[in-house]
Parts: sequence; structure tokens; C-alpha cells
Amino acid sequence: MKFAVIFVIFVAFHFCRGLDIECNFIQYNWYGLGEKYICSAELEEEIEVLRRSLSKVIRISGRHYGNRNDEDVLGVVISGQTTFGIVRNFKEFFPNMDQLYVIRSKLKFLYRSDFKGYKALKALSLSRNHLSHLPYDAFNELTNLKYFDISFNQLTQMPNISAMKKLISLYLHENSIESLTKVDLSNNLDLKGIWLYNNNLKYIQASAFEQLHNVRFVDLIHNNCINMARIYYNPQPFYNAINAKCSKRPNEDNEIEILF
Ligand SMILES: *[C@@H]1O[C@H](CO)[C@@H](O)[C@H](O)[C@H]1NC(C)=O
Repeated sequence: MKFAVIFVIFVAFHFCRGLDIECNFIQYNWYGLGEKYICSAELEEEIEVLRRSLSKVIRISGRHYGNRNDEDVLGVVISGQTTFGIVRNFKEFFPNMDQLYVIRSKLKFLYRSDFKGYKALKALSLSRNHLSHLPYDAFNELTNLKYFDISFNQLTQMPNISAMKKLISLYLHENSIESLTKVDLSNNLDLKGIWLYNNNLKYIQASAFEQLHNVRFVDLIHNNCINMARIYYNPQPFYNAINAKCSKRPNEDNEIEILF
């Protein structure tokens, strides 16, 4: 009983208080975007218990390089920690940030408003977490995203990326996605690369890639209906192969084909 009261007070205190975060400021180069000055964030341990408090940071500590300041920070990385949600207000501290990485952090759920404050993001990675089901509108705000990495999770469906009209690279490999239809990629006309290897694709609509005139690379190796990577110059044989292999029920096909 006593413990319960103390626990409730402790939770209430943290809920109101939000989070303290310690930044290690480093130079980092993700996705070939060039060297960026970023905060590699360390979260407090208690966060593991206090899920809701994660959403807001109230204090960030850490020592900047030379005479750099918070305005020079272009990204935040949370890696190898246990997180139960997306920190929603890093932008209040780092107004110029356009990259967010929450990776290897056992993230299981996303909520509708997680990315509300992140309209300016150009790169988002949620790679190597435990995500399975996503709200259909989780990424609605991310209209400026160019690099989206949600590889190494447990997705069984394509994420809704219809808001990401400027997307260039889409990393979906190492999930359990079962089908891909034209609608899934219909708004992403700038896409250049799509990584879908090691999924469970059983059905791919023949026209799924047809509207993507800028695509140069599609990797479908190790899927149920297809085991192929395509470097795109003449896409017709690729569409034909998809049509032949993936428009019906799965068949066994374990040979890797690379078409040029
Ligand atoms: C995907 O999200 C958009 C809004 O960005 C919404 O209009 C659309 O209905 C969603 N699609 C699905 C299949 O849920």
C-alpha cells in the first residue's frame, strides 16, 4: 500500500516533469546525407517504466563542440536504449533538426500524433525495433521526408507513406510484409530505391511500380513469390517477372536472379 502511494506520486511527478536528456554532440553521416552535427541522446533509465512521460523533453544537457550551439544541431539519434514512444518535442530545442533516428530501441508502438512536430524531417529511421501494427495516419505529417527506414521490424503490411511525396529511399527490408499494391506507392513519385528483401511478399500487383519513373533499384530478394533484385534500366522484364510470379498464390523459387 505504502509502496503503491509512493509509486503513484513518483509517476505523477515524472508525468508532469517530462524528461531529462543528455546529448553527446557528434558528427555523423547517415544515408550519404553528409556529415551532420547531431545529438546522440541518452535517456534516463526510469523511462522504461514511465511510458507517457517519454513524449516531452524538458531539459537537455551536454557540451557542444567548440562554439556550436543548439541551432547547429541537425539531428537526434536514440540508439540501443529502451523506449516506449517517440520524443515529440526535440524541435523546441533544436529548431533546425531535420533528421530523427530511433533505432535498436525496442520501440513497439507509434501513436497518431508522434510526428506532429516533425514536419521538417528529411530523414527518419525507426530501424531495428519491434513495430508490428502502425496507425494508418502515423506518418501524415512527414511531407518532406526523403529517407524513410523502418527495416528490421515486424510489419506485416506496407506502412502508409502516402504523405511522403518527396521520398527518395524507402527501406522496408527484414519485415514480414505480405502484399504490395499500386496504392501503396502511388504518391511517392520521386522514389529512387526500394528495399524489400527478406519479407513475406506473396502478392505484388503487376502495376505497383509502373508510376515510379525515377526508380533505379528495387530489391525483392528472399520473398515468398519472388527472389529477385532489379537494377532498373529497362523495367519491362521486371514487371513481367512480377506478373508471372506474384499475381497468384506463392510458389517455391529459391534462385536469386539479378536482371540488368
Ligand atoms: C493513408 O493516409 C492518408 C492520409 O495521409 C489517408 O487519406 C489514406 O486513407 C490512408 N490510406 C489507408 C490505406 O489507410
